[in-house]
Amino acid sequence: MALRELQPSPEALPVYEPEVRIFLTPEGVDNFAASKVITLLQNEPSAVLTLPTGSTPREMYWLILEAFNRGEVSFAQATIFNLDEYWPLPPQDPASYASYMRTRFINHIDIPRGNWHIPNSAAEGANEEATRFEALLQQTGGVDLAVLGIGPDLTCHIGFNEPGSAVTSRTRYVELDPRTLVVNQEHFPDPSQIPSGAITQGIADILEAKRILLLAKGGGKARGIARTLKGPVFAEAPASFLRYHPNVTFVLDRDAASLLKTNN
Ligand code: F6R
Repeated sequence: MALRELQPSPEALPVYEPEVRIFLTPEGVDNFAASKVITLLQNEPSAVLTLPTGSTPREMYWLILEAFNRGEVSFAQATIFNLDEYWPLPPQDPASYASYMRTRFINHIDIPRGNWHIPNSAAEGANEEATRFEALLQQTGGVDLAVLGIGPDLTCHIGFNEPGSAVTSRTRYVELDPRTLVVNQEHFPDPSQIPSGAITQGIADILEAKRILLLAKGGGKARGIARTLKGPVFAEAPASFLRYHPNVTFVLDRDAASLLKTNN
């Protein structure tokens, strides 16, 4: 969707009822997400993808790698944009999202190195780096599929668009929500070393993808999913902005979906 054309009245955007797929197990979510990525690339080898990091998509990457190793999918013509990255942080730091992507995925597939983009966590200026990344994103001619996770507790963040993010936001530096810091610091050997900020694609960037999958697994995501799907569409729950998009699928396991019925 061309969000730019709709400004400055995003509140006038139509609200859609997203597709919700509920699987009995987390593996159901992993298989569904991996198969969507694989099928897209089989049909459109030069597809552009926006991809997340975090705990949720680990098994998705593993399944896609298995398919790659069986020769079922190639990234030779594909382009990948990551959603976000901490700033500042040495990119070789094991807790950086660049390290996550390299070790789990990028180093094992055939993507040309110039076709994978992630904000530079060691850039001198976060704002300049955000502008550079946004320009690259705009040059691609559009993202075919964006895969997202959802933030902890009731943050309902997507990328690192924390509560308060505008629907019109673009790639920029953000301060992380205290609830995000608490959960994510477990990935840092010294929890106090987690950066307080990050560079993230904006909500408008995410909404411009042709198709979006939001993955959520486990009971810890249940309240956020219920708020996102059943609460108001507003900046306090940035994932609720996905309801402005006509082609979004929420891919949930039973635990993540457990509060949907009671919150009607
Ligand atoms: C990470 C990202 C975040 C995570 C979210 C959930 O690139 O964009 O929005 O998807 O914080 O993280 P996990 O999967 O660790 O629960």
